[in-house]
Amino acid sequence: MTPAAASQASKSKLATSRWKVVFALLLLLCTFVFCYFTFVCSPYKRWRHFTLTPPQLSQRTRLMSRHGGPLNGSFYMPANMHRGPPPLDYKFDMNGSDVVVFLHMQKTSGTVFGRHLVHHMDLDEPCQCTEGTKRCRCLRPQTTNKHWLFSRFSTGWKCGLHADWTELSTCVDDVMNTKVEGSIASRRYFYVTILREPMSRLISEFRHVRRGATWNKSRHMCNGRYPTADELPPCYKTDVWEDVTLDAFLACESNLAFNRQTRMLADLRLVGCYDRDAMTTDERDGVMLASAKHNLDNLAFFGLAEQQELTQFLFQQTFKLRFTVVFAQADSSKSANTPVTHAQSERIRSRNVLDVELYRHAERVFAARVAAMTAQFPAEYERFVKEVNGESEMEFPDGGSFAKMSHRTKSGH
Ligand SMILES: *[C@@H]1O[C@H](CO)[C@@H](O)[C@H](O)[C@H]1NC(C)=O
Ligand SMILES: *[C@@H]1O[C@H](CO)[C@@H](O)[C@H](O)[C@H]1NC(C)=O
Ligand SMILES: *[C@@H]1O[C@H](CO)[C@@H](O)[C@H](O)[C@H]1NC(C)=O
Repeated sequence: MTPAAASQASKSKLATSRWKVVFALLLLLCTFVFCYFTFVCSPYKRWRHFTLTPPQLSQRTRLMSRHGGPLNGSFYMPANMHRGPPPLDYKFDMNGSDVVVFLHMQKTSGTVFGRHLVHHMDLDEPCQCTEGTKRCRCLRPQTTNKHWLFSRFSTGWKCGLHADWTELSTCVDDVMNTKVEGSIASRRYFYVTILREPMSRLISEFRHVRRGATWNKSRHMCNGRYPTADELPPCYKTDVWEDVTLDAFLACESNLAFNRQTRMLADLRLVGCYDRDAMTTDERDGVMLASAKHNLDNLAFFGLAEQQELTQFLFQQTFKLRFTVVFAQADSSKSANTPVTHAQSERIRSRNVLDVELYRHAERVFAARVAAMTAQFPAEYERFVKEVNGESEMEFPDGGSFAKMSHRTKSGH
């Protein structure tokens, strides 16, 4: 090699290594910026693994359709959410880090259940409720700011009005650390909800909307943003949808009442949130239903509006917490009063096929969980039946009347 060539070579080597340094610096800068935006700016820093590496949608839906159901590992669950019903001998750790999170879906008798949680729990230190306000402070014993219940009537709608699974799972822990307790703690979250037979639930929602309910403060937050007006076109231009007819109610494509329970239990990030163009309708429905079933199976507890007493028994035995009242079966006559033609009824069914299927699934799982519980705790079950039938001593602050186990009324359509 001539000296000239050698110098040329070393020059180009120098140039290459200079470029390498520049490249490395650039890479470092990019990493830094990326990390900054993901970890510092993200409102969901604690769930960053959700947004960083979502599997490809096509791959996910392929996996699901091939197996006719959800594959393990294709769904995200927050790390500190307890999955599925706790072991039969589990006892709610009021002094420790356990938190009940109530996912309250509209018109499922959730308000009544929410009130039971704050007013009628048999605790050494009951929730502190002030006359005239709806909310109570449900604190761990001997603490001044440690909460064991995340719900409308305790912490309030801290993750938005009627927050759904998608919103709660990305928000609760963050909000507990910041707005609710104001200090970071490690907790175990036990998600609970109530489902209702979808036909009567829809009629009930229709009646509520007719009376002027809007829930227009609901955020529908998904993947860190609100849906656009294109994604979620409003069903009405006025402030409220008062006096809407059932036909008009059923005619609005974007009516959130349709399949509400499926949508509110599904992880909407799997279907591109409210963007209906992210996949075909069939795909969207399939993934949403599979996700809702999966999340339902993984709830620590869920009840059925039509099965108030068994719902109470299952809750009590799941957490080893007792209520001081018997859950009364809600009067279903109001829904039944709304005249519905055969054609309308078919419309309601076709608009809610996912919820119909989800509810069928829920009934099966509920029955299995109750069966497991009665088999494990036969004496408790017997005592509970006696309490419900008013045959044993129990304090009922409400003094209300309770439906008998044997005369359970099915909610009408
Ligand atoms: C998912 O996991 C559960 C238990 O972890 C198992 O029973 C079930 O068969 C799994 N499902 C699939 C599709 O692999
Ligand atoms: C919780 O703590 C209180 C006292 O602070 C105690 O009386 C009670 O037994 C504890 N409960 C459990 C389940 O450890
Ligand atoms: C939201 O709904 C309430 C009634 O529930 C109504 O008074 C209000 O005008 C509505 N706001 C908007 C922006 O539509």
